[in-house]
Amino acid sequence: MSKVDVLLGLQWGDEGKGKIVDFLAPNYDVVARFQGGPNAGHTLEFDGRKHVLHQIPSGIFHPDKMNIVGNGVVLDPVTFHKEIEDLAPYNLDISSTLVLSSKAQMILPTHRLLDQAYEEAKGSEKIGSTLRGIGPTYQDKMARVGLRLGDILEKDFESRYDKLKRRHLSILDQYGFEYDLQTIENQFFDSLDNLRSFRIVNTEYLLNELLISGQSVLAEGAQGSLLDVDFGSYPYVTSSNTISPGACTGLGVPPGKIGKTFGIFKAYCTRVGSGPFPTELLGDKGEELREKGREFGATTGRPRRCGWLDLPALKYSIMLNGVSQLFVMKVDVLSELSDIKICTAYKRNGEESQEFPSNYNDEWSTILKSFPSWGHNDFSLYSEIPSQLSDYLNFIEDNTGVPINLISIGPDRTETILKEAMASL
Ligand code: IMP
Repeated sequence: MSKVDVLLGLQWGDEGKGKIVDFLAPNYDVVARFQGGPNAGHTLEFDGRKHVLHQIPSGIFHPDKMNIVGNGVVLDPVTFHKEIEDLAPYNLDISSTLVLSSKAQMILPTHRLLDQAYEEAKGSEKIGSTLRGIGPTYQDKMARVGLRLGDILEKDFESRYDKLKRRHLSILDQYGFEYDLQTIENQFFDSLDNLRSFRIVNTEYLLNELLISGQSVLAEGAQGSLLDVDFGSYPYVTSSNTISPGACTGLGVPPGKIGKTFGIFKAYCTRVGSGPFPTELLGDKGEELREKGREFGATTGRPRRCGWLDLPALKYSIMLNGVSQLFVMKVDVLSELSDIKICTAYKRNGEESQEFPSNYNDEWSTILKSFPSWGHNDFSLYSEIPSQLSDYLNFIEDNTGVPINLISIGPDRTETILKEAMASL
């Protein structure tokens, strides 16, 4: 029987998962999303084109692959409709290759309004949410009042929608939040016909049957491990389990069916939104990294906070996910910096610690190790990488005990260097 390999971001999201899923997709029969929703922005570049996906799995550009939106995802029908329309120029037969879980929760227009109301009410303690309605939708899932994609096929859908909407409006009124619902509600109902044109099924059966028949599955994580609702820097996190066990609950496959876990990280760190960021560079160096790495959000366009690679945080993510192989992204961005650093430990009250502190604050500091820059990106094979870059990567491998098998040196599919043949990944 085949297994589900899982691909995850090990930092605060935006590691480059979309590019790598698209790159690895030829090795798999199925690509499946298992958590998150339109807060994600997975950027793919190929044949001189750039495309950002929010809810649709990143295997969609491979016409012979099946793409599944699992039950753990929260889906916004309006954004989904727009995403489908944006794919029109590619002439893909999406309605036959994309399958949606009947159990995926649906983001309603009022969920988006609630997200705004909750954030505004938090004042200086804002999470920096993408305001896509993610938190309120997962909240309703747990409160057992949410609507799921399968519900749009039922006769009583409109009355159930109405009931939930009224519940939301009374909360919005309590918050004194002003809104104009009519336009976004019209968009929502207009988008439901598009949604109904897709296969909405119990994807847990489909996936398990595909595995039994020998088909291989790649589960595509969204956000990053340090935004996990349990293990991230709570409360500055997203509302789902972004770590590998989330693939089991978000797809309906048992732990024994999980195969390899690929962990993606940037050669440095970025974060959007609020919350602790131990290695953050606040001055010119941070600005330089942001400009060189074009670090602006794919979903919101917000400038990303930038900092050095955080080794204890990386090790924490590797531990939580059971990562078997590492893929390092944006190595090219560091090549032009004069001095590169890695955080090797944290310090508080004179004591060193290797444990990722979810409540990192002014009492803590970082211990940094310097590395010389490699100065250029003139390499396309693993055997050609400059010795300074080798030293940088060896240091990470030695400290994590996990091999780095893929190096990304640019956004395009072709700007990817493998340590070993693709088949052994
Ligand atoms: P939410 O998931 O939109 O509620 O946002 C919660 C936090 O996670 C905020 O700090 C967001 O900026 C961050 N976040 C959510 N999705 C992503 C993502 O795909 N990439 C990076 N950060 C994200």
